[in-house]
Amino acid sequence: MGGFEFNKLSASVLVALIILALGDFASQYFIASNRNIQKNSFHIPVQTTNAMPANHEEKIGPIEPLLEQASAEKGELVFKKCQQCHSIKSDEHAIGPSLLAVVGKKIASAATYAYSSAFKEKSNDIWTVENINAFIHNPRKFISGTKMSFMGLEDINDRANVIKYLQSLKD
Ligand code: HEC
Repeated sequence: MGGFEFNKLSASVLVALIILALGDFASQYFIASNRNIQKNSFHIPVQTTNAMPANHEEKIGPIEPLLEQASAEKGELVFKKCQQCHSIKSDEHAIGPSLLAVVGKKIASAATYAYSSAFKEKSNDIWTVENINAFIHNPRKFISGTKMSFMGLEDINDRANVIKYLQSLKD
């Protein structure tokens, strides 16, 4: 190997070493600056519930006065959102329990459905139209700990119509 070639070889080894060292340095630098980001970051509170602002509170209920004008046909269309989890056949449970004749029933009363413990704690209560209205407006606000992972129906007319539809489903 001539002196020139040896120089070329050692130069490339040197370059390779420098690149490695730079890479190492760079990764240290980025990890360190990442740590800094974490250290200097602050927690921004994010609203995770879909509760409406207080000035909209009156839109939640009461639902009873709207039911007379409500439409079970429109409610059946709204119910498509519920159908992915609820059947309306007797004792046929899916992700959620059957909703056949649920209006006026005790909460968590389908014998063959495994309710959450949050639901079982409420089982002395009745699914009045007002309770259903509050529940489907914001399930987790009405029964915190429920396993019904549905974000809720914001529109009071949608709720009135779907409740009217539920009322039409008798045993
Ligand atoms: C993503 C699935 C899902 C969707 C969508 C859903 N539900 Fe539910 N629902 C559940 C589950 C699960 C439960 C049982 C909750 C528990 O045990 O905590 C439940 C429970 C209920 C109950 C109480 C029944 C009982 O036997 O006590 C009612 C009433 C109800 N849902 C109505 C509705 C309506 C109306 C809609 C549509 C507007 C809807 N749900 C959409 C999953 C769903």
